[in-house]
Amino acid sequence: MEDKTNDAMRATQCGSRFFWQRGQLIDRRLSAKYARVLLRGPTVPTDVEVGQFVLVRYSEDPCLPRAFSILSGSDLGLELFVKTDGRVREKFATAPMGTEFDIRGPYGTAYRDTISSDCQYILVGGGSGAAPLLHFRKRYPHLVAGEVYGFRTRDPVDLLPEVVLTVECDGGQRAHERLAEIWTPGVGIIACGPEPMLRLLGEGYGNEPHVYVSLEARIGCGIGTCLGCSIETRLGMQRICREGPLFALKDLPWLR
Ligand SMILES: Cc1cc2nc3c(=O)[nH]c(=O)nc-3n(C[C@H](O)[C@H](O)[C@H](O)COP(=O)(O)OP(=O)(O)OC[C@H]3O[C@@H](n4cnc5c(N)ncnc54)[C@H](O)[C@@H]3O)c2cc1C
Ligand code: FES
Repeated sequence: MEDKTNDAMRATQCGSRFFWQRGQLIDRRLSAKYARVLLRGPTVPTDVEVGQFVLVRYSEDPCLPRAFSILSGSDLGLELFVKTDGRVREKFATAPMGTEFDIRGPYGTAYRDTISSDCQYILVGGGSGAAPLLHFRKRYPHLVAGEVYGFRTRDPVDLLPEVVLTVECDGGQRAHERLAEIWTPGVGIIACGPEPMLRLLGEGYGNEPHVYVSLEARIGCGIGTCLGCSIETRLGMQRICREGPLFALKDLPWLR
């Protein structure tokens, strides 16, 4: 009897991980190129760790699901910060309130299981890569030594009032240049953003011990079985959806 109860509890807990859940778009703030959206449904996961992501499919367009980092999860719902230029992301910007999305997750290893807890970190986000870092700063303020959120234009300033953005077209400064101004030896870095930004970090900080980068790839299964998101690391092949998305920069020779 007890076993059955435990099985039922486990099935409920695993439900959102292995089966699609319906979530409604219940709130949205928009800029020209970005959206901050809230999705809610009775079984949509909200108990999530920093750095985890969900797979989302637009219910009326069952294309391959897309991965989105979680900005926050609470009773209000699951909050995402997305660029609005792709097939699914564009729907976040244009679909009417109440539109249903299919959601599965959360997936990925929590940042706190990858990083060293011995130091503080400068968070470096580029574009929509800010999403997991905003989650991090909220959950672990004591681990944050500084923040850099790089954007080309002022477009998303009103969407992210909680942080100061480094806007390239304002002062001509890019995220890695701002980082160079505030980084000091011994301070760690957690970065999430486009690959060119991560490559610049690889050039500058590849030999530093506490530098971590969050990687993106086309995600298929999201649960580590299809191997479609595998990357080469110093420790062998690893999966972005399972061992990642955060990796120590020193373990990624191709990025240094
Ligand atoms: C772990 C993880 C976390 C992520 N977190 C986020 C997040 O928080 N926010 C976020 O916005 N993204 C995030 N991504 C990235 C996102 O999953 C991908 O960009 C995804 O492809 C977006 O899906 P889409 O259908 O909206 O865009 P897609 O249609 O897949 O297009 C992706 C990009 O390619 C461009 N593109 C599409 N078709 C063409 C074409 N024919 N020619 C030229 N360019 C084209 C689009 O403009 C867009 O920039 C994450 C990815 C991973 C792996
Ligand atoms: S997406 Fe299938 S193993 Fe990562």
